Amino acid sequence: MHDADHDHPPAPMNQPGGAIGFFRAWDTYSKVVAANYMFHRELGQGVSDALHQRFGGRPFSLLDLGCGDAASLAPLLEGLSLMSYKGVDLSQPALALATQNLARLDCPVTLVEADFMSALAAAEPRDAIYSSFAQHHLTTQGNANFFRLAAKRLNTEGLLILVDVTREEGESHEAYMRNYCVWLRETMTGLESEEQDAIRDHLTKNDRPEPASSLCALAQHAGLRVLPGLVPHKWHRLMLFAPA
Ligand SMILES: C[S@@+](CC[C@H](N)C(=O)[O-])C[C@H]1O[C@@H](n2cnc3c(N)ncnc32)[C@H](O)[C@@H]1O
Repeated sequence: MHDADHDHPPAPMNQPGGAIGFFRAWDTYSKVVAANYMFHRELGQGVSDALHQRFGGRPFSLLDLGCGDAASLAPLLEGLSLMSYKGVDLSQPALALATQNLARLDCPVTLVEADFMSALAAAEPRDAIYSSFAQHHLTTQGNANFFRLAAKRLNTEGLLILVDVTREEGESHEAYMRNYCVWLRETMTGLESEEQDAIRDHLTKNDRPEPASSLCALAQHAGLRVLPGLVPHKWHRLMLFAPA
């Protein structure tokens, strides 16, 4: 892959501060998930429905890009005919947690510490490619490359599943950051103020969410078909794509 194909990976959730920093950041993220502040419950239901509709009892392979601890995805995979799971993440401590969270899967599980764009470029064809709350770190060019690579790596009857934050249509990056930070303060009230600050700091330094229309246009340009998704909240979204 050429350098231009590739975004600089963001500061993963384990920086700065090494393992202690990681566990603090991951503990905060776990609180966000548990309180459903980012609509993981509704989005997870949408992912489960999409996997059942697309694959039903049919065996399928899944590549999880930016898998983190895989805690939200693991329960959604039970009852499906998963043939193999491969998770990729920059964070070794997150992958250690993923090993535990995926232990109940009745299929080969591979976890790789790597940048997901490099992993996608080198991946074997898969039936399902999944990425949740990780893609918003990519630039517009990075997203174009992501969809181009995903389109090449998806099997004919495959499914690309993206769960992520997106900007509202017509909302600038600056307005999104301002609005999201205000919303975070008003809604994520179960977090300590230092935890809110840490999230604000991480997202203002690393996040580059695009409007859904831009992502869909890039996906279509890469030869993918946009399927109906789910928007439980204006910035939090499930997007589904299939080979055209
Ligand atoms: C907010 S967490 C989401 C984890 C999980 N997918 C979920 O939905 O709960 C984002 C994860 O993406 C990982 N990540 C971000 N950019 C990455 C990249 N370029 N390559 C690999 N992992 C990446 C981070 O290390 C982190 O574990």
